[in-house]
Amino acid sequence: MNPNKPFIIAIDGPAASGKGTLARKLASHYKFSYLDTGLTYRAVADELLKRHLPLDNEDIAVKTASLIDFGSLDRAHLSEHEIGEAASKVAVMGRLRKALVDMQKAFAEQSNGAVLDGRDIGTVVCPDADVKLYIVAAPEVRAERRYNEMMEKGEKADYNAILVDLKRRDERDMKRTESPLKPAKDAHLLDTTKLSIEGAFTAACAIIDPILAKR
Ligand code: C5P
Repeated sequence: MNPNKPFIIAIDGPAASGKGTLARKLASHYKFSYLDTGLTYRAVADELLKRHLPLDNEDIAVKTASLIDFGSLDRAHLSEHEIGEAASKVAVMGRLRKALVDMQKAFAEQSNGAVLDGRDIGTVVCPDADVKLYIVAAPEVRAERRYNEMMEKGEKADYNAILVDLKRRDERDMKRTESPLKPAKDAHLLDTTKLSIEGAFTAACAIIDPILAKR
C-alpha cells in the first residue's frame, strides 16, 4: 500500500441496495470526499430527456455529457425514480462510460481520501481501491425502501411497479457488455436485507478500520 496515494473506498451494488446512504455516512465518518457516480449517468439521461433527444445515440450522448457542469448537479431532481431507469439505458454506451469514468478516476486521484459508489467502481473506476464493498439486499426489501423514500417525499409510488422496475434495471446493469455490474474478485460482500443503516455502517467500519490502521 502506498501511503502517499489517497485511501479509496469503492462501493458497488444494485439499485436501492442502500449503498448511497452507506457511502455518504462512511465519507462523513472518515472525512473523505464522496462521489455518487450514478448521479453522473443520471445527469446525462436527464439532459437528453429535457432536450427530447434519444437515449441510445452514442455521439449525441457524449456531446451532451460534455455540456454538463458535473460540479453542480441537482441531487433531489436527479434522484427521481424515472431518471434512474433512463440512466441505465444511457449507461450501456461504451464511449459515454469512458468519458464519465475518466472524470470519476480524476476525482478519486485528486482527493485526500474518497468514497465512490456505483456499479463498476471496484472493477473499472478504482480497481486498486483499498477497500471494496459489494452491497446486496433482497429485491423486495429494496423496492420497499424505494417506496418509502418516494412516499416520504410526497411522490406517487406503486410498490409493484417499483419492484418490476428495479428487477429490470438490475438485469440491464448486470447483462450489459460494457462494465456490467458484478462484484470485484477482492470485494467484501455485505447483505443489508436484514440490516438497518446503522447496522450496515457498523459492519462496513469493521471491514475498513483494520485496513486503514495499516496505512
Ligand atoms: O446508482 P443509481 O441508481 O443512481 O444509478 C443509475 C444508473 O446509472 C444505474 O442503473 C446504472 O445503469 C448506471 N450506473 C452505471 N455505473 C455506475 C453508476 C451508475 O452504469 N458507476
